[in-house]
Amino acid sequence: MNDFVGVGILYNRSLDTLLDTVPDAVDYIEIIPDTWFSDKGVGAAGRFDMFPAYEKRILELGQRWPLVAHHVGFSLGTAGYFDEAYLDNVIRLQEQFGFLWNSDHLSYSKVHDEEVTEYSTCLALPLTFDEEVMEMLTGKIGQIKEKVDTPFLMENNVYFVKFNEEKYEEGAFLAELCNRSGCGLLLDLHNVHANATNFNFDRKQFIDSLDLKDVVEIHIAGGNVIGEMYLDSHSGRCNDEVWELLDYVVPNCPNLRGVTFEFHESYFNTMGNEGILEQLEHARAICLKSKNIVCP
Ligand SMILES: [Fe+2]
Repeated sequence: MNDFVGVGILYNRSLDTLLDTVPDAVDYIEIIPDTWFSDKGVGAAGRFDMFPAYEKRILELGQRWPLVAHHVGFSLGTAGYFDEAYLDNVIRLQEQFGFLWNSDHLSYSKVHDEEVTEYSTCLALPLTFDEEVMEMLTGKIGQIKEKVDTPFLMENNVYFVKFNEEKYEEGAFLAELCNRSGCGLLLDLHNVHANATNFNFDRKQFIDSLDLKDVVEIHIAGGNVIGEMYLDSHSGRCNDEVWELLDYVVPNCPNLRGVTFEFHESYFNTMGNEGILEQLEHARAICLKSKNIVCP
């Protein structure tokens, strides 16, 4: 596979020692640009302001590894407007840092009314898998693809409620969205595991319902149970079900470019550098085993 970049990690500051001492542990770095600048909100003048020290750090990372951008602020599921200023900022970031690809989530995190242009929901909320949402997302992704000349990926989201009477099953919705809009799929296997745990469906049947030609990136992560729900908390090591899914899916994704391990830095101490290296090595071993993959 010519375009396979390798095994990457979602950057946070707890990784600095590991990246300095074992730089070959990862083949690329994923960053969430939204955590590197202030955003004064929709309609504000001088809205985006990158912190200089952070900008310097991204440039340093970009000198050593390819970078990919994982956005959390497009809120493409927000009905009523498309955040063009946010897109302009993504274009500027793309020009500055040269990301291999950009991605965001199949969800929304901003709502509005007649008086206030932006309320944050503080949580990525799920969308209904129906025709109206399909058309809205297709239009918005089209606007992004017109102006950003790299692949744009949508990530399957975790959800904690289900809607009745949807036109599409989730897998069919994702396949049709990729087909109509030309976006790629960022397949988060831990989100699949979380949804399957909470809503009691078969993980592999879900994978089989996707069009795996769409998959450009895979996310792997760990989570935990709070109360009655299994949460996508990125709380350290991947669990066995996620490894099993990775093993199942990698050989069948002909356009896969990267497998990214995500963890929240507040859980660094549950793994330490050694534990993180184990996760990366495990992911690399699965990729190497696949006849489709040539790791760097
Ligand atoms: Fe993810």
